[in-house]
Amino acid sequence: MRVVMLGAGYVGLVSGACFADFGHTVVCVDSAAKKIEDLQEGRIPIYEPGLDALVAENVRQNRLSFTTNLAEAIKTADAIFIAVGTPSRRGDGFADLSYVYQAARDIAQNATGPIVVVTKSTVPVGTGDEVERIVKELRPDIEITVASNPEFLREGAAIIDFKRPDRIVVGANDPRAAAVIGEIYRPLYLNQAPIIVTSRRTAELTKYAANAFLATKITFINEIADLCERVGADVQEVARGIGLDNRIGRKFLHAGPGYGGSCFPKDTLALVKTAQDCGTPVRIVEAVVAVNDQRKRAMARKVIQACRGSVRGKRIAVLGLTFKPDTDDMRDAPSLSIIAGLQDAGASIIAYDPEGIRQAKALLSDVIYADDAYSCAQEADAIVIITEWNAFRALDLNRLREVMRDPILVDLRNVYPRTEAEKNGFKYTGVGIGMR
Ligand code: UDX
Repeated sequence: MRVVMLGAGYVGLVSGACFADFGHTVVCVDSAAKKIEDLQEGRIPIYEPGLDALVAENVRQNRLSFTTNLAEAIKTADAIFIAVGTPSRRGDGFADLSYVYQAARDIAQNATGPIVVVTKSTVPVGTGDEVERIVKELRPDIEITVASNPEFLREGAAIIDFKRPDRIVVGANDPRAAAVIGEIYRPLYLNQAPIIVTSRRTAELTKYAANAFLATKITFINEIADLCERVGADVQEVARGIGLDNRIGRKFLHAGPGYGGSCFPKDTLALVKTAQDCGTPVRIVEAVVAVNDQRKRAMARKVIQACRGSVRGKRIAVLGLTFKPDTDDMRDAPSLSIIAGLQDAGASIIAYDPEGIRQAKALLSDVIYADDAYSCAQEADAIVIITEWNAFRALDLNRLREVMRDPILVDLRNVYPRTEAEKNGFKYTGVGIGMR
């Protein structure tokens, strides 16, 4: 099949490279000339494990290419995926659909024959109807069908998520579109990946419901963690105790500093707004959004408490800045609120992150950056683990303590068991690990 991916951002690039790897001929189109130039010269603008090799191999095999020229790319395409951004609109939290609608207009203006348009961007229910209206109005002469195919990719594991999906959701009101998309995903039949074909609106809502549910699961265990601290229970054991119940499941029950990233914060908010507009508010998700927002700042207070009530004039070492490991993404990362809270309370911050420092520099001020965990801990009054990178999971705690001024460890991801930290001379604070 010949596929065009409109938008060479995170989702477009990963999806395009994976489709090419399935054997399709893929052209990624983006209006950002610098990005396309970089990609043509083999420079990948994002950090995602395995993506550089996947792109290089498929370019070498002539299955994957990059261009700014949509008119040329669309000529022979069977399907065109819209994979542009849908950021939160400033001020009201609704998804900003201007890039999606512009993509629809560009497609309509450049289409030369029948084509299936597939929205991969996360868009509120009903967006497909509007995309269809736009293309039909501009090009009544051509048969253009519009479908929805939401992505469920985790940053840091996107390629494996794409190639071994739990399911593929296809929202198509028309059998031709469903058949074309089915053909594009056919290489996955071998792995028996379930393909669920639904109406377009159902597919659009499925994506939001999935993310909102996962965000709810995390927020639920985070609140249980707070309760554990109060009553002297251990949230990791509670999570295991409930997670082994198949109806609940063990995943997404790790208590921490709150969820961040490019999807959960924006998608939960967009769902809340859509539901309010429809007169059927999703109050659980409203609570999740509010609880998660407050939690990030509350983590700064937790650090202050661990530092005997004050961080004024103290040097706090932060390990991990990105919203999760294996990404350089800083969007809505808990580290941003936690560091701001500590700085407001008079702390000076030294930080280290394996991949996120370049992005962090643009968002944080007055932070010193270290080259590794041990130099970060040098002369520190406390060390705070915010992101559970592999590099932080087997630190030599004794060596770490020796270079610090005060051996305080605040482990916001429960990477280390309390006993191990204490054995190495640390005063330890985890999340939801109560003491009685
Ligand atoms: C998420 C969804 O998983 C993916 O399906 C969707 O398409 C995009 O959004 P992503 O944002 O890359 O993916 O990361 P994910 O691994 O889901 O983690 C999101 C946030 O939740 C991170 O901040 C992470 O630290 C946090 N989290 C996750 C927890 O705090 N506890 C958990 O148990 C799991």
